[in-house]
Amino acid sequence: MRTPVVAGNWKMNTTLADATALARAVVDGVDGITGVTTVVCPPAVSLVPVSMALTGSNVFIGAQDVNPNSQGAHTGELSADMLAGLCTYVIVGHSERRSLYGEDDAITAAKARASLGSGLRPIVCVGESLEVRDTGNAASLVASQVKGSLARISDISQVAIAYEPVWAIGTGRAASPEIAQEMASTIRSAVAALYSDEAANGIPILYGGSVNPDNAVSYAASPDVDGALVGGAALDGVAFARIVDAVAASG
Ligand code: PGA
Repeated sequence: MRTPVVAGNWKMNTTLADATALARAVVDGVDGITGVTTVVCPPAVSLVPVSMALTGSNVFIGAQDVNPNSQGAHTGELSADMLAGLCTYVIVGHSERRSLYGEDDAITAAKARASLGSGLRPIVCVGESLEVRDTGNAASLVASQVKGSLARISDISQVAIAYEPVWAIGTGRAASPEIAQEMASTIRSAVAALYSDEAANGIPILYGGSVNPDNAVSYAASPDVDGALVGGAALDGVAFARIVDAVAASG
């Protein structure tokens, strides 16, 4: 039985004060909700105050990115070891990293390996563009992203995968539950082919892209979708808690 994960990706939003207030709102909102792992991923500068605000709660903290190198001359970057004392999760390969910062599957895999090496749980993001979907190649592209983004990772028991179609992120045009299920199933099959059925059945596969409190339940009901990676709606503590509640209720 997989425990669903609902992770909020705050992206480049929230000041220090906003982040602490939002973290407190999430803690209050999800208090008492069981059967789901709740994660917030604030900007790096807010990891410390947010982790303090989460003390004693059932909310985990994640980073939005990590550098694949262990240390050294990488101005402005953070290593997995630096994050390890603070975070449980880290998002790698988000489509914004891929499209805006030129990151590919190989870099994503290197980040995932660095994360695992420091005891962090990577949330590995994959997803096709509208162009790829329209040409009918979404499943094969995403399967190849899964393979490339997990390269040279032998144990995936601490890995989560997020299916985030690029056309659904921040657009209000969420994927239908049918597409989310079909693609999550494609991802699980790809993982099974690379590892084993047991490994594939053990890992959470999240859906991300315009998830909100009203549509969350429809994804949660899909057999291969194990939670959500939430952007815009995660900036509202009440809305985010409603998503967590919806996922918990359908478990
Ligand atoms: P969105 O973002 O919920 O605002 O579409 C999702 C994400 O980028 O993870």
